[in-house]
Amino acid sequence: LGKSIIHKESTTSTQHIAHDLATNHADHGTVVIADEQTAGKGRLSRAWYSSKNKGIWMSIILRPSIPPYLAPQLTLLTATVLADVLKKELKLNPKIKWPNDILLQDKKTSGILTEMQAEQDRIQYVVIGIGINVNHEPDDLAEDIQSKATSLKIETGKSWNMTELIQQILLYFEKTYEDFLDKGFSVIKEKWESYGYRIGEVTSIKTFHDVQRAVLTGIAEDGALLAKYEDGTIKKVYSGEIDWFGN
Ligand code: BTN
Repeated sequence: LGKSIIHKESTTSTQHIAHDLATNHADHGTVVIADEQTAGKGRLSRAWYSSKNKGIWMSIILRPSIPPYLAPQLTLLTATVLADVLKKELKLNPKIKWPNDILLQDKKTSGILTEMQAEQDRIQYVVIGIGINVNHEPDDLAEDIQSKATSLKIETGKSWNMTELIQQILLYFEKTYEDFLDKGFSVIKEKWESYGYRIGEVTSIKTFHDVQRAVLTGIAEDGALLAKYEDGTIKKVYSGEIDWFGN
């Protein structure tokens, strides 16, 4: 992983570059990093603020031999990698909010965007986009996200060397990915649940059609969130948001 690293000072989105490279046969493990993105993308067609030299904006190309419906496992895997780095290397106490947000003190410091190109029942490639707010001061965060976002600097009171952080992320990623190929998703599932935000608690789940209260019980093999609703049924949630209070 990371044998080939493409670095851009400024780009629209590292996801775009990674898609271009992947369609032109870039190897598994190719990494694209930018100092700044002018059109950073988040989940659910949202924008992702990616100001210059404040954070880690990177995309990793993977060519996994798993069926397309299991691709969400890679998002959950990536979340455990980021949580591990923050916990083990930076001594922080991260939580993972399903499916892909890394929280520190209940505020989002990192997000993951997984995009896949598949044909029939085969994955051509997956692009895992990782955004981490690293050296932002409170004022560097866009106004509309200030109440719910944070950065490593805000949480720790010091600046972090982003090159070192990227190296650690790639090392942990490689190791975790090998474990995943060897032992399957159960290792990831267990770890994910140990970091899981509000697992075992009642929260609100917003899906396309409604908002309902439910207890989050864990995650399924296919990456779905398992939620126990007030009528006692356990359902899989594939798309939606938890802990949703109307914003
Ligand atoms: C989210 O939480 O909504 C996902 C955010 C993902 C942001 C990263 S930054 C690097 C890569 N390039 C993008 O345009 N998006 C991802």
